[in-house]
Amino acid sequence: MRLKHIPGSEEAVAGSPQVIHEPESLKGRWSAEFDGRPIALEIGCGKGQFITQLAARDPQTAYFGLDFYSSVLVKALKKDSEALPNLRFLWMDASGLSEVFAPGEVSVIYLNFSDPWPKDRHAKRRLTAPGFLKKWQSLLAPEGRLEFKTDNMPLFDWSAETLKNEGWTITAITHDLHHDPVLSEGNIMTEYEEKFSARGNAIGKLIALPPKA
Ligand SMILES: C[S@@+](CC[C@H](N)C(=O)[O-])C[C@H]1O[C@@H](n2cnc3c(N)ncnc32)[C@H](O)[C@@H]1O
Repeated sequence: MRLKHIPGSEEAVAGSPQVIHEPESLKGRWSAEFDGRPIALEIGCGKGQFITQLAARDPQTAYFGLDFYSSVLVKALKKDSEALPNLRFLWMDASGLSEVFAPGEVSVIYLNFSDPWPKDRHAKRRLTAPGFLKKWQSLLAPEGRLEFKTDNMPLFDWSAETLKNEGWTITAITHDLHHDPVLSEGNIMTEYEEKFSARGNAIGKLIALPPKA
């Protein structure tokens, strides 16, 4: 997928107080830094619609939207006067998250419409590939969970299979979220979810618990 580069977005993101700079310095102290709130993280948040609405709805949790692309992240930033106290952004590659959060520090990880990397030889790059799942497992608290949504059904089914093979427990799954009476309740749509469901694509969602150590 080719994204349009926005000139000046690097400077805007680098200078924003809504972005956590040097996030490694908070390793092991995230919850304390955010008044004891549990920590929830969207990996690949894009323009931030999902995580922003979630943070507004649930002020008792500290939410973090992470993306490595400044041209989308810059759109997630608000005027400082409108910024939510329980929402911050991380401008980084998700591969480096083990340097940022201590083991068990994160309560929920959201993966929404992650890049599908359809070619077999690129499967390791999928954010639900075994190498990434091991990272997410180590970040999550024992009672934590991973939530994953996509309209890409080959990726969805591959991810569900990979999670099971890696010892995760899938506690809820649907191939048609918007018509699922239980899982659709309180659903917040991402930008991609709005775009692809408007084209008639069904949305898959699953919730998975990490393997017990
Ligand atoms: C297809 S978009 C989905 C955006 C949003 N979650 C949504 O559903 O509308 C995937 C996003 O993930 C980001 N991304 C992909 N791999 C990443 C990585 N390893 N680290 C950080 N961000 C990543 C991309 O820059 C892009 O903004």
